Amino acid sequence: MKERKGIILAGGSGTRLYPMTNVVSKQLLPVFDKPMIYYPLSTLMLAGIREVLVISTPEDLPRFEQLLGTGEQWGIEIQYQLQPSPDGIAQALIIGEKFLANSPSALILGDNIFHGSGFGEKLQEISHDLTRNLTLFACQVHDPERYGVAEIGRDGQLIGIEEKPKMPKSNYAVTGLYFYDEDAPKLAGELNPSDRGELEITGLNNMYLKRSQVHVERLDRGHVWFDTGTPESLSEASQYVQAVEHRQGMKIHCPEEIALRKGWVEPDQIIKQAKRLANSAYGRYLNKMAEDFKREID
Ligand code: DAU
Repeated sequence: MKERKGIILAGGSGTRLYPMTNVVSKQLLPVFDKPMIYYPLSTLMLAGIREVLVISTPEDLPRFEQLLGTGEQWGIEIQYQLQPSPDGIAQALIIGEKFLANSPSALILGDNIFHGSGFGEKLQEISHDLTRNLTLFACQVHDPERYGVAEIGRDGQLIGIEEKPKMPKSNYAVTGLYFYDEDAPKLAGELNPSDRGELEITGLNNMYLKRSQVHVERLDRGHVWFDTGTPESLSEASQYVQAVEHRQGMKIHCPEEIALRKGWVEPDQIIKQAKRLANSAYGRYLNKMAEDFKREID
C-alpha cells in the first residue's frame, strides 16, 4: 500500500499583511519562537508523514530551501516546487502530481496552525485510514464569511461547502488541512477557474461531496485553529503559542522533538543541531529535551 505524502502550499503574496510581507514571505514570518512554516510541517509530521513537498513562489522558494533543507535533519524528505503565480489552492495538487505518484495526500496551507490535546493521534489515525476518500476539518468561528463554510445537516452530514459566502449557512469554517485519496490531482485537473480566476479548493472538495466521499471531522472546544493571514490572527497565534509554551515549559510544533519522539532521529543528532542554536531559548530547549530523552531511554 502506498504511503501518504504531504504538500505544504506556501505561496501567495500575503497582501493582507503588507508591509510585513513586502520583502519576506508570509510563511517565513515568526509565530512566537519559530517560522510559520514549522507549524504546518509539524502537523504533517505528527500525522506520520515523512515525504513532503513545499510549494511556493519563484522569489520565496529558495528561502524555504535554505531554511528547511532536505529534511534529513528531522528524518524526513523535503522536496520543492514552484507555483509561478497564485492560481488557486487546488493547483497545488496538479503541481504535486508527479511527486505524489498516485499516493494519497495531505495538503496543508502554510498559514494554518492547529493545536489540541490528542490531535496528533487523531491525525495519525486519519492519515493511515486509506478507506476514506477525503477528510476535512471544520471549526466553529465567529467570522465564517472569511472562509470556506460547511453546511452541516441535523444528522451531522455535510450538505455543501461555499467559499466565502456573504450569507454563511453555518459557523463552521473548513480549515486548510485536507486528506485526499490518490484521485485528487486528476480531479483538480478537471476544475475550471472560478470568477476570481482561481482553481478553488472548495470546488475540488465539492466534487468529492457529489460522489458522497467526504468525511468531516469537527474540531471541538479542546482544539484551536488559526489562519494567520491577518495581523490580528498572526498576533493571536503568537500569543497563544507563547502562553502554552510558557505554562507547560514545553514547546509545541517543534519538528526536532516530533522527529525524536517518532524515532526518526537519534538524540545525539538533535544535540548536535542544538549547538548551532545554543544562543537562543529554542536551541537550549532542544539540547535539554534531547538530553532528557536520552536518559529516559537509557
Ligand atoms: O484557511 C482556511 C481557508 O483557506 C479555507 O477556509 C478556504 O476555503 C480556502 O479558500 C482558504 O481561504 P483563504 O482566504 O485563506 O485563501 P488564500 O487565498 O488566502 O490562500 C491561503 C494560503 O494559500 C495563503 O497563505 C496563500 C497560499 N496560496 C493561495 C493561493 C490561492 C498559495 O500559495 N497559492 C495560491 O494560488
